[in-house]
Amino acid sequence: MEHDADGRLLDREPIEPPASFVAQANVRESGIRRTFEREWPDCWERAGDLLDWDRGYDAVLAGGGTEPPFRWFAGGRLNASYNCVDRHLDERKNQVAIQWEGRLGETETYTYLDLYREVNEFAVALRALGVEADDVVTLYMPMIPELPIAMLACARLGAVHNVVFAGFSASALASRMERAESRFLVTCDGYYRRGAATNQKNKADNARISLDHDVEATVVVSRLGDEMHLGERQYGYADLLTAHEGERVTPVARDATDPLFLIYTSGTTGAPKAVTHTTGGYLAHVAWTARAVLDVKPEDTYWCSADIGWITGHSYVVYGPLALGTTTVLYEGTPDHPEKDRVWRIIERNAVDVFYTAPTAIRAFMKWGAEYPARNDLSSLRLLGTVGEPINPRVWEWYYAHVGGESCPIVDTWWQTETGAIVISTLPGVDAMKPGSAGRPLPGIGARVVDGDGEPTAVGETGHLVLDRPWPGMPAALATGEGWASGGYPRRSADGWRYAAGDEATVDADGYVTVLGRIDDVVNVAGRRFSTMELESRIVEVEGVAEAAVIGGDDRDTGRAVYAYVSLERDYPGDDCLRARIEERVREGIGPMAIPEAIVFTPDLPKTRSGKIMRRLLEDIANGEALGDTSALRNPEILGEIESVVRRDPADEE
Ligand code: WTA
Repeated sequence: MEHDADGRLLDREPIEPPASFVAQANVRESGIRRTFEREWPDCWERAGDLLDWDRGYDAVLAGGGTEPPFRWFAGGRLNASYNCVDRHLDERKNQVAIQWEGRLGETETYTYLDLYREVNEFAVALRALGVEADDVVTLYMPMIPELPIAMLACARLGAVHNVVFAGFSASALASRMERAESRFLVTCDGYYRRGAATNQKNKADNARISLDHDVEATVVVSRLGDEMHLGERQYGYADLLTAHEGERVTPVARDATDPLFLIYTSGTTGAPKAVTHTTGGYLAHVAWTARAVLDVKPEDTYWCSADIGWITGHSYVVYGPLALGTTTVLYEGTPDHPEKDRVWRIIERNAVDVFYTAPTAIRAFMKWGAEYPARNDLSSLRLLGTVGEPINPRVWEWYYAHVGGESCPIVDTWWQTETGAIVISTLPGVDAMKPGSAGRPLPGIGARVVDGDGEPTAVGETGHLVLDRPWPGMPAALATGEGWASGGYPRRSADGWRYAAGDEATVDADGYVTVLGRIDDVVNVAGRRFSTMELESRIVEVEGVAEAAVIGGDDRDTGRAVYAYVSLERDYPGDDCLRARIEERVREGIGPMAIPEAIVFTPDLPKTRSGKIMRRLLEDIANGEALGDTSALRNPEILGEIESVVRRDPADEE
């Protein structure tokens, strides 16, 4: 295959999925998109049918589907924990549900029966601590089995979980608990990250102290095994299980439209945005896509390497695979510990069938070299997936050749925290693949690329990616229509309902969508979302800083990197000491993973006459590109003074 200078494919011959894969694929009807089109919205009954309902739904989508409220599976009642655990007991109680691979090489195995027991015992314990349906329970844990167990225990009670990524700082945790008015917290003593053990409980305690409201109970899992010092209203997880050994809770039936969880993500404002997902629509959508796109089968061992702290982990480490009754691998560590073949060893040892990861990880694997995957037997793999950011065709081909041995289809799945589940991808048993392009909208999904007037763009033209029809995994606020009013969701067009994803994309003649990246104030780095506004508001809190502009620049290793341009108060020295204070403020305010790759001090920021910072120009400078149109600038002379980026040494950060 030939490439241009940027590694884009010149010769875009689609690659057909191997016949051996197609023959066994869960979905292989070539006319499925047409069928779904004809039968929309009732086509989504196929997703609803993957679940067990306490009360069957009256309509797949009540209310016509042209204007909110959109009530998916209206009238239906179900419990997510029952669907992910109890209903599998008859057929596979001794099958592994969760295969945990610990940071230090230890492993733990939970069969569906083990999972059933522990989810029940912990649910009883939570109820005894006062948790009721609709209470928000915050879960602040790394990748340990107790995290999905706690999620399922909440779901069993109809409580709403709020998972906060373990790497977030105490103040980031506090703000998420504060806004969610969460009075319950489950955390752990600490966990291993790179060389050292981090003190998670300390962060959790600091967050709790700073809250305006009381936390009724904090449960602490012992991960490090050291003696724990529990204060008032703090409980050891293992003690609670012992106290409630063998006890059971009847799963609480929830309306399909009731919340299952909320998750905070980066929006276009300075504050994190809460996205709430529903019990019926969300669960049906993740189960259907895990089956149709990731081709998950109950007998599979399936591994999605995402952290449960983000949406990918919710949907495709926990809910999707467990709803389908498969074995899901949970890996606590990093891919290069103790050696750079750790991922491939886990695949070999567990005979993983389906592996789903992010382009940033694949780029790292590629940099480390093909000898690492080659050392291990990867022949158990049947399908590969990627998510989180665009994948460059060269990286796609490396994944295809060196991990998949040219015999596994790759699904490049486009979706977001807001979509809840995959919405654009090839169907691996139906569609040909085009490296670098995610594929067509899934059956039953209305997605298009439009120009500024909302008209579909011509083939190859760049435009905004929008979803112009409701989908089952849509967030509750979009479904009720309240989200528009609160400004939590961008743009609603005059000529019909439409959700603008905040991404830029093109479409080719076959309808394949190539996603280019974000066009709003969200930077996507290494598959993680950051709000430029949130970072800027932390940085300007530092003494001496006048203004800050945060942008996403190109980075050879991570794809994108966060750069901060900072102008200083008069005569304030822009030195390493100030740089360190800015880094510290970001670490405290958000977490180490948000520290910019580079902090560039500049006398002023490029601004329009109306005083708006022109981030695009800073991006051009950071990426070493020719500067775009500078005619709107009030202070064009500043461009010559802005230094090129000097990158931070990638320290031992999260
Ligand atoms: C980006 C992660 C290109 C996109 C599931 C989106 C992608 C943002 C892809 C959502 C993909 C995700 N190709 N870009 N296959 N998948 N993105 O909310 O910019 O953390 O808007 O959800 O990731 O990030 P989020």
